[in-house]
Amino acid sequence: MSAEDTPKPICEDHVIKGRRLSKRIRKKVKSEVEALTEKHGLSPKLVTVIVGADPGSQMYVRMKHKASSKAGILSDHHDLPESTTQEELLALIKKLNEDPEVHGILVQLPLPKQIDEKAIIGAIEPLKDVDGFSPQNIYRLFYGGEKLSSATPHGIVTMLDHIGWGDLSGKHAVIINRSTIVGKPLIFLLLNRNATVTVCHSRTADLPSFTRQADVLVSAIGRRESEDDPFFITPDMVKEGAVVIDVSTPHGDVEFEKVKEKALCITPVPGGVGPMTITMLLQNVLDAFTAQVS
Ligand code: GUN
Repeated sequence: MSAEDTPKPICEDHVIKGRRLSKRIRKKVKSEVEALTEKHGLSPKLVTVIVGADPGSQMYVRMKHKASSKAGILSDHHDLPESTTQEELLALIKKLNEDPEVHGILVQLPLPKQIDEKAIIGAIEPLKDVDGFSPQNIYRLFYGGEKLSSATPHGIVTMLDHIGWGDLSGKHAVIINRSTIVGKPLIFLLLNRNATVTVCHSRTADLPSFTRQADVLVSAIGRRESEDDPFFITPDMVKEGAVVIDVSTPHGDVEFEKVKEKALCITPVPGGVGPMTITMLLQNVLDAFTAQVS
């Protein structure tokens, strides 16, 4: 292999290159999708559902469709009005569960308050649950044999794997987030990699006393509304040599330029966790398709 062929490192100048890693994984997903499409005469298909007109949800879902198309994954979308009832949404999910040409179902969260999120997530066929939120997939995660897992946490541990931090024995991971989408699934993914895990959230007292202990610090606070707002994670809150993962978009939680001086590796915003989240969704669609056609 010539020097030109040597793949560039995922952590370079203390920065975890989320886009670089995403590109590599998406290329692999695309070639596997092509091979499976040829073998089965059928392409994987993702169907997304949005209820209401939240602009953030619309933007994220558009990005998911664009990335799917580039990877050879078919996709379809249902835009339902804010007034949709739980019964109407359940009826759509039943139809998608039964459609053999649909391999992945993603209901974008949050849902309007008249709809019980748990009832909707629980109704999605586990093999098609590309978010990994269904009871069966959470159970698998709990026992350490997950097949489909939530895209953002999955992206985070995949980045850790690629910087050589796949086994976290002896390492203390501190997560600032307790959501069902990020914090809670990440607890198990990190525990399953032997980390000692601490979870902090909005009611935690003395946050810096926890963050300073972190070998792996994952911050998903997401309350900075503009570039002018103060950062939540400043260098005095970070241990020398820590791996720092900033999940929050679009403004980030971490004072990137200063924390980079102390961190072993840090994810940028944008270009860190964001592209990895979409990449792991594509991987999940591929894995769901593989399980359904085999
Ligand atoms: N809303 C924010 N992130 C996500 C996600 O990963 N999946 C779904 N379904 N909704 C979200």
